[in-house]
Amino acid sequence: MIVRRGFSPPPTYHDDRLRNAPVGHFFDVISNGFGKMNGYGAQIQPADRWAIVAYIRALQVSQNPDQNLR
Ligand code: HEM
Repeated sequence: MIVRRGFSPPPTYHDDRLRNAPVGHFFDVISNGFGKMNGYGAQIQPADRWAIVAYIRALQVSQNPDQNLR
C-alpha cells in the first residue's frame, strides 16, 4: 500500500545482503529507521525489538536452511 502511494519499496529479507547482515543491523533499522523508513525506537521496547529481529531471522532461515547465522 505505501509503495502505491509513493514510498520506495522495502527490500526482501531473502537477498544475500540482508541474509548476511548481523542481527544488530535489524535492531538499528527498527530503532533509528533506514532511508525512507521511520524509526520505531520510541514505540517498541528494546526486548520487543530483539524479538522482532529473532522473527526476521526465523523467516530468513525458513527460506534458506543452510545459511550461517551471525
Ligand atoms: C518493526 C517493524 C519493521 C521492521 C522490523 C522493519 C525492517 C526493515 C528493514 C530490515 C529494512 C531494510 C534495511 C536495509 O535495506 O538494510 C526496511 C526498509 C524499509 N522499511 Fe521497514 N521495518 C518495519 C516497519 C516499517 C513500516 C511500518 C514501514 C512503513 C510505514 C516501513 C517501510 C520501510 C521502507 C519504505 C523501507 C525501504 C527504505 C529505503 O530503502 O529507503 N518499515 N525495514
